[in-house]
Amino acid sequence: MVRKNVLNMKPYSSARDEFKGEAEIFLDANENPYPSGYNRYPDPLQWKIKEKLAPIKNVSPEQIFLGNGSDEAIDLIIRAFCEPHKNSILITDPTYGMYAVCAEVNAAPLIKVELTRDFDLDLDALFGAITDDTRIIFLCSPNNPTGNLLSRDKIFKVLDRFQGIVVIDEAYIDFTTSESFTQLLPLYPNLVVLQTFSKAWGLAGLRLGMAFSNMEIINILNKIKYPYNVNIQTQEIALKTLLDVDKKDKAVDEIIEQRAQLENELLQLPITEQVYPSDANFLLAKVKDAPGTYRYLMDRKIIVRDRSKITLCKNCLRITVGTPQENKNLIAALKNL
Ligand SMILES: Cc1ncc(COP(=O)(O)O)c(C=O)c1O
Repeated sequence: MVRKNVLNMKPYSSARDEFKGEAEIFLDANENPYPSGYNRYPDPLQWKIKEKLAPIKNVSPEQIFLGNGSDEAIDLIIRAFCEPHKNSILITDPTYGMYAVCAEVNAAPLIKVELTRDFDLDLDALFGAITDDTRIIFLCSPNNPTGNLLSRDKIFKVLDRFQGIVVIDEAYIDFTTSESFTQLLPLYPNLVVLQTFSKAWGLAGLRLGMAFSNMEIINILNKIKYPYNVNIQTQEIALKTLLDVDKKDKAVDEIIEQRAQLENELLQLPITEQVYPSDANFLLAKVKDAPGTYRYLMDRKIIVRDRSKITLCKNCLRITVGTPQENKNLIAALKNL
């Protein structure tokens, strides 16, 4: 499955790849010797984070890839497995926009398969659309922008039947009670699970994403990533953050509670036609006039996402769940519309 040139190439070997131990004098990486807190290059493979993260995720450190956001992992997976102009990726429509963007950048043909009306996988259409040259299927669950989990049974059918790589993007997994697919890695050598520190962990500005897979796939991603793709500050803050899982869990609980409240309040507004069930930290709401509502809110300095041009999302706004006060202000503004 791996692109021939990626399989055969010799990866860049950094100073920190070649010497990993403790020493007193480092004159091997052309760094500035005067301490600034950041004058040394970071650990290229971020082992301290992986060792902390592995027991939390119930995987081994060698099954983890860390990147500059999960966006980096999305790009690298396509680069690793798709021969340009030949090997396609398959995505659902609608879904997270970066799969299509990364496919385009890497000249990987894109196959889009529309979700059903209740935003679930259409397996007949999906299996009908796969070709011999399809290398990757991206499944986003919970899906962005629709908010729902994809049916677990259907995902299993894809994993069982498709011979290429199945990427399950679980960026929003902490906001559901559903079990992560990371626990099925031993059963499926073609599975890659993506998660991120940008949502539940509250570190979107740091840029740290995770990919979980078998060691062979993780090694391929490490082979083609930039040598020092996660900077020292990100590594240090991520390590500290991982010591306080309770803080993350508390934020998640609050967001889930607010999500239910916001859903109720939205449903009582005359402009609301439907609020779709959400397993994520946002709600997709169908309103009478999404572009108009979007502009009205923008004039009041409240920014939501107008998704009305997206497949199956006519007149839909995607609203991130905010703090209790932010949600209150949003509802108050909408009541005056
Ligand atoms: C489904 C999904 N995957 C990945 C990402 C990007 O995550 P990161 O910040 O880790 O690059 C997002 C961001 O909105 C997302 O919605």
